[in-house]
Formats: sequence, structure tokens, C-alpha cells
Amino acid sequence: MKTGLDGKRALVLGASKGLGFGIAQGLVEEGARVAIASRAMEGSKAAADKIGRGAIPLICDTGKSEQIDALAKDAVSALGGVDILVLNSGGPPPGKAQGVASEQWRTSFDAMFVNLVRLADHLLPGMIERKFGRIISVISSGVIQPIPNLAISNAIRPALVGWGKTLASEVASSGVTVNAIAPGRIATDRLKQLDAANAERTGRSIEDVAAAARAGIPAGRYGEIEEFGAAAVFLASEKASFVTGSILRVDGGQISCT
Ligand SMILES: NC(=O)c1ccc[n+]([C@@H]2O[C@H](COP(=O)([O-])OP(=O)(O)OC[C@H]3O[C@@H](n4cnc5c(N)ncnc54)[C@H](OP(=O)(O)O)[C@@H]3O)[C@@H](O)[C@H]2O)c1
Repeated sequence: MKTGLDGKRALVLGASKGLGFGIAQGLVEEGARVAIASRAMEGSKAAADKIGRGAIPLICDTGKSEQIDALAKDAVSALGGVDILVLNSGGPPPGKAQGVASEQWRTSFDAMFVNLVRLADHLLPGMIERKFGRIISVISSGVIQPIPNLAISNAIRPALVGWGKTLASEVASSGVTVNAIAPGRIATDRLKQLDAANAERTGRSIEDVAAAARAGIPAGRYGEIEEFGAAAVFLASEKASFVTGSILRVDGGQISCT
């Protein structure tokens, strides 16, 4: 399949490692020019060096609106414009739905929704003008089947889905698509941390927790970041021009409902 990504310009958030890194790497392999951001320039630089092919390191904490505004300017000035925007962010702390402090809800909502939408608003006019754009949000299987002990994620990520679905119909006639990718369990540091937290909470070993999780995935294993990146590459491609307002699951068959 020819993706048509050669020379396209992409900005990927939360990309010094994990899912964002896998997406950035996949886009670069298809010839896209990529800028990657994370909270620390050191991490972004190391990841950009690893990706190679002119990947540009940038800094942005999605919890800080002023850094979002600066990122939009920096990315446009470094790339000349942004055709593909990947809205990814760090995961919220695990925990139950009861007793979350109001301040924690607000902080997480800013980092996982308000500021991501703010960045999209900065970059959408250019996409609409050029009649090509791709907005891809990294969400979670929890929006379809809520995950125990991940209340903040389960509660906030659906906002990104509702926003994206609404936006998709507003910009479809301008050649801009808006989609989301829902990871099930992809092998990253975040997943290791969640398995460790789950082990501590339930008094089991990390190996037992991971084995039980794998047993619940029809594919029998965790996914790889390259497999996740490939799904984003498809949604970013010219071939996906009629796919918009969708949620693409990358979960090895884990979500049991249709
Ligand atoms: N892996 C999975 O199976 C899975 C499943 C469902 C949902 N998710 C969600 O997908 C997202 C990415 O997960 P992951 O597994 O790739 O996590 P990860 O391995 O921990 O990587 C997270 C990336 O985001 C960056 N980051 C963290 N906090 C940030 C912030 N406030 N602003 C900007 N960048 C930030 C990190 O770099 P710095 O720390 O240097 O900033 C890193 O590059 C998370 O929201 C996670 O909850 C993952």
C-alpha cells in the first residue's frame, strides 16, 4: 500500500518513548518529516536521535497551556506547517472512582483533554486551508470497556472521543479526518508501571499479574509499539481519506463487546 506520507509533516506528542515513539517511528519510515515532543528536551532529543531521518525534538508538557501554545509555534516554524497531529499524553495515576480530589480531576482534564484540543485549534486552520489534515488521538480501550482501577482514564478519555466525533463532521469536507486509536495492552513502560501497581494492590507477583492479563487477550500476548504505530500510519495515510470519526482498536481482540 502506498501511504502517500512522503514529505508530509507530523507532530507527535508524548513521543520520547512508548506509543508516541512507535507512531513517530512508523511515520518516519513512510517518509514523513516528524517533530516529537515530551516534557523533557533530553528525552525528546534521545528519541529523535534514535528515530533519525531528521526527526525534530521539541518540549511540551500537555498539562501546561503556555507550553502548548509555544509548541504550536515551534512545530510550525520547524516543519513549515503540520499536516498530521497525534494527540497523545501521559497516562493518569491509577485508582478507584471514589475519592479522587477535585484538583486531580482538573489537572488530569487539562492535560488529557483541554490542552490537546487547544493544540488542535491552533493547527486546524492550516490543515483546512491546505485541504489535508489528520488528527489522531491516542485514547484507551477503557472508553469502550472501562478498566478497573483506572477511573480517571475511563472518565476523561471519552471527552476526547466526543470532541473528535463532533469535529470530524465539521471538517470532513475540507479533507481533514479526525480519528482515535484505542490501545488494549501494548508493551510500554506505562504498562509495566500499571502491572506493578496492580501486583502491589492485589498482593500478587508482577509475573502473575502480567500472565493473567495476557490470558485475557485472545492473541495471547501484549502488543508491540510497532503494531500500534502501524495503525496510526494507516489513519495518517492518504489511503484513509474516507475514514473519519472512528475509533480503531489495537487490542489483540481483548475488548469483548462489539
Ligand atoms: N500502553 C498501553 O497499553 C496503553 C493502554 C491504554 C492507554 N494508554 C495510554 O496511552 C498514552 C501513552 O502511553 P504509553 O504506554 O506510551 O506511556 P509511556 O510509555 O509512559 O510513555 C508516555 C510518553 O508520554 C510522555 N509524557 C508523559 N507525561 C506527559 C505530559 N504531561 N505531557 C507530555 N508528554 C508526556 C512521556 O515522556 P516524558 O515523561 O519525558 O514527558 C513519554 O514519552 C497514555 O496516556 C496511556 O495511559 C496506553
